[in-house]
Amino acid sequence: MASVTSLSDSVQQHLASALTASVPEAAGADPLLRRSDRADYQANGILALAKKAKANPRELATQVVSHLVTGGVIADVEVSGPGFLNVTIADRAITENLAARYADATGRLGVPFAELSGTTVIDYAQPNVAKEMHVGHLRSAVIGDAVVRLLEFTGETVVRRHHIGDWGTQFGMLIQYLIEHPHELDRSGDDGTAASGEQAMSNLNRLYKASRALFDSDEEFKTRARRRVVDLQAGEPETLAMWQKFVDESKVYFYSVFDKLDMEIRDPDVVGESGYNAMLAETCRLLEESGVAVRSEGALCVFFDDVKGPDGNPVPLIVQKSDGGFGYAATDLSAIRDRVFHLKASTLLYVVDARQALHFKMVFETARRAGWLGADVDARQLAFGTVLGKDGKPFKTREGETVKLEDLLDEAVERATAVVREKAEKVGLTDEEITENGRYVGIGAVKYADLSTSAVRDYKFDLDQMVSLNGDTSVYLQYAYARVQSILRKAGAAVPAAHPELELAPAERALGLHLDQFAETVHEVASGYEPHKLAAYLYQLASHLTTFYDQCPVLKAETPAQMENRLFLADLTARTLHTGMTLLGIRTPEKL
Ligand code: ARG
Repeated sequence: MASVTSLSDSVQQHLASALTASVPEAAGADPLLRRSDRADYQANGILALAKKAKANPRELATQVVSHLVTGGVIADVEVSGPGFLNVTIADRAITENLAARYADATGRLGVPFAELSGTTVIDYAQPNVAKEMHVGHLRSAVIGDAVVRLLEFTGETVVRRHHIGDWGTQFGMLIQYLIEHPHELDRSGDDGTAASGEQAMSNLNRLYKASRALFDSDEEFKTRARRRVVDLQAGEPETLAMWQKFVDESKVYFYSVFDKLDMEIRDPDVVGESGYNAMLAETCRLLEESGVAVRSEGALCVFFDDVKGPDGNPVPLIVQKSDGGFGYAATDLSAIRDRVFHLKASTLLYVVDARQALHFKMVFETARRAGWLGADVDARQLAFGTVLGKDGKPFKTREGETVKLEDLLDEAVERATAVVREKAEKVGLTDEEITENGRYVGIGAVKYADLSTSAVRDYKFDLDQMVSLNGDTSVYLQYAYARVQSILRKAGAAVPAAHPELELAPAERALGLHLDQFAETVHEVASGYEPHKLAAYLYQLASHLTTFYDQCPVLKAETPAQMENRLFLADLTARTLHTGMTLLGIRTPEKL
């Protein structure tokens, strides 16, 4: 068995049995164990139990103590305050527990798989065809990627869906223009090489602007463009082929950005809006037949008691427009049918901007009424807030345009590279390593800034702060990791090894007890979809490591055994940092 029972779980179990032994009716009661400043752990659950049993809490606590088995994990326990239990863990137990994590050959550091797992379909990283990606798409990609990694780590089956915006009336205009100007999407690189992501986007931008200008100025073109929409919806082959060109060109661009983000997006997982075309008519028919949707002024609508406009009139979810066209909602409802009935999802996640909350509320409610979302399927939007500029307003360029994601990432890498270069000589980095580290630090900084605040909150995009070496940044964590590697290199022949017989210094105990909580943290973070709590855990871990260095010399330890034990503590901390950062999608360079 590779998975390790955490110290807190052991204490919890001991307390629970002692509680049951004292008050048989209390079987199953939670002793409410917490990490505490007063002791290693404090249990506060006895107060409520005493109240229920009409007993004196301090007396009850004393009774529980008398039933508690000490000498193993628990070194000492005492009653404090109105009836709290202060628990001290044995040094030996801490070291042995950590040694078991360290020995886990699966690379999971003793973290067990979740007891219950299912299939989660997660909708994230969904940019729009023929459009520039912006910071909103950054958030969806970064948060989604972290959630995927976390869920997979706990044993969940995860299906990724990139619901790209690849359908709609705007394509009529673009396709018509391309048909009339057939060479406009040809590769500008005359050497015949594939276009770069940047080229692809500038081609698309140019085409978009030109077709828009024509559409606005030329009535006849406008008519032809509208007719083209009909052809597209009817699946006319030439029209579809042209549409495909736009999608392919856009994918070149998307993949280049995802690559910059150091993120793997797989082609089969890109199932855009167009992927549900064949289901739309049936989705509408089912909704209409069941009475979930009704015709209103020609459109097929779903109404909600609690969704009203400013004038007090109900605002419906429009599934089919009066001209017969299907919109965003019809696609999302069809996607739900696909994800539940075909992909067999037990959970549906949507990592989408909070401004789309009403859309998802209505879509989920509609799917529930239609019976597509049963009580056994959890559907939820992981809504994220807006990225703000330093001025606290939505992030825009000085000219008021949305900021291009690529420019932003390039700048982050540039700044990070400067930070890395400063120390490069001291650390002995080659130019290649400087470039690679600059990328890992810059992209890591952007991801960490996004992941370290709760998703639903807005956050300020401040590169100076993001690449700062001090404070709650990814660079700080990356340095903590690299510092351990440097010490391990300097240790020469000395090898990390656990010595459970050694007494631990306070900083070692604090570090050890925090390491013990990694598994619990990962499970909590994965089940609540809250990567920011993992970021907070890792930041605390790095801080414990800093205190440990300050108070416990490693290479100058008093005895060889102590040195080995400290190397072991440092190495386990580094591995935990690495595993945790990997779950957030952030790299940990070996030398920094
Ligand atoms: N493409 C959309 C946008 O850029 C996001 C799609 C979200 N996913 C969904 N199933 N509706 O805003």
